[in-house]
Amino acid sequence: MDRSKFDLTKYFNKTHTIIKDEQIFEPTYIPECLVHREKELSLLASYFKSIIHKNSIKSGGLGKSGKQVIIQGSVGLGKTVVAKQFGFTLENYCRNRSDENIIRISFFHMNCRRQRSWYLILTTILQHLVPAFPIRGFSADELLTYLIKIVKERNQGLLICLDEIDYLLTESKGHDLLYSLIRHHEGVSQYEQAQISLILITRNPHFQTFLDPALLSSLSSSVISFEPYTCNQLFDILLKRAQQGLNERGYSDDILKAITSIANKSGDARYAIELLWRSAKVAEQQEAQQIEFEHVRKAQISVFPIKHSFITDLSPQLKSVLLSLALLLKCNKDRAFVTTKEVREKYNEICTKSQIKPRKQTQFWMYLQELAKQGLVELEVQNLHHKGKSSGRTTLIGISDFPVNELLHLLEVNQSSSHISR
Ligand SMILES: Nc1ncnc2c1ncn2[C@@H]1O[C@H](COP(=O)(O)OP(=O)(O)OP(=O)(O)O)[C@@H](O)[C@H]1O
Ligand SMILES: [Mg+2]
Repeated sequence: MDRSKFDLTKYFNKTHTIIKDEQIFEPTYIPECLVHREKELSLLASYFKSIIHKNSIKSGGLGKSGKQVIIQGSVGLGKTVVAKQFGFTLENYCRNRSDENIIRISFFHMNCRRQRSWYLILTTILQHLVPAFPIRGFSADELLTYLIKIVKERNQGLLICLDEIDYLLTESKGHDLLYSLIRHHEGVSQYEQAQISLILITRNPHFQTFLDPALLSSLSSSVISFEPYTCNQLFDILLKRAQQGLNERGYSDDILKAITSIANKSGDARYAIELLWRSAKVAEQQEAQQIEFEHVRKAQISVFPIKHSFITDLSPQLKSVLLSLALLLKCNKDRAFVTTKEVREKYNEICTKSQIKPRKQTQFWMYLQELAKQGLVELEVQNLHHKGKSSGRTTLIGISDFPVNELLHLLEVNQSSSHISR
């Protein structure tokens, strides 16, 4: 006997009125055509042109066994999607050529925030290349040596994209391993070299200053900077997404323009696309046939301009520091910044309440630097004056461009569902 009055068929049979293809709005979706990133794609092609020819290794190519390119730019500018599209296209290009002078290239995209360690990254790549590769029993150094050996033996090329590379460099041997990967060919004859190329992606505009000098001088100076999209460029990106993912009658140019001008402040395509998708969802929930301005306004409240996973993936200690800052800024609505001392006091208070041992000043300061590196907080050094004379300096802390209430909500939901480490 069916006792439930809740009728699922009503929901399952409900057809979308506005959204034609939900997949088009998923974060993993790679559009075929990346408008306004043609220049960046062609730069990648010209930097990596030399790696596909066998004789470029023998003749020394550009004097390296692989190439490295750094992609730099802030949130949502298409860094990941451009690198992925380039890498997969290059892989296919080499696979489909009958020319025996062209080597096979395998492309790997690794998100260092998710994979978090060289060990995980190297095992993942090795398991793809050698499916029976054992999961345990090797150190990261050994894995790297083995990877180089395999690539050499197979006479193939590897293009590894280390996305959000900053996370990998915080590991104790992070710099050393990157250094070994870039300089592995030293002292080896050209014929014996393994061809491993790298795309390093970072949001940090000062990325190079975090590298140790040896690493910095080893990295080639090929840097591609991604600039924020302009209003017109964002409109074109949105229009393409809308044409693919929404029913033609479900949106208008004016709606796309409205969304574009909201997202224009940051030039962030992710934010624009998510706002379009959420507006379509709101419109559908309200059984409208077309997205209206009110739907966009409503959707805007629920779109957080940074990835939720940035917050949820933070370590419990970093979450506590961020929570302390967010609580202070919420109580001090008239101030954009608070002092380090205030945040530290709040942090101590939160730790005591949650029965966590607060970390010492040096560690606390490192947490703040880490959050700043990830673009979640802004640090501003201010000179202090007393009676017209300089009396030292203090650091002020603020939260970058996103709503404190939304951040608090995310942090508090997260704090209550996971236990903070003691
Ligand atoms: N030129 C473009 N054409 C079409 N879609 C784009 C373009 N640029 C970015 N996008 C879309 O915008 C979203 C964000 O892009 P992507 O993830 O590559 O940004 P990112 O620069 O790597 O950001 P983050 O630093 O946050 O990782 C994705 O959905 C992507 O498909
Ligand atoms: Mg990215």
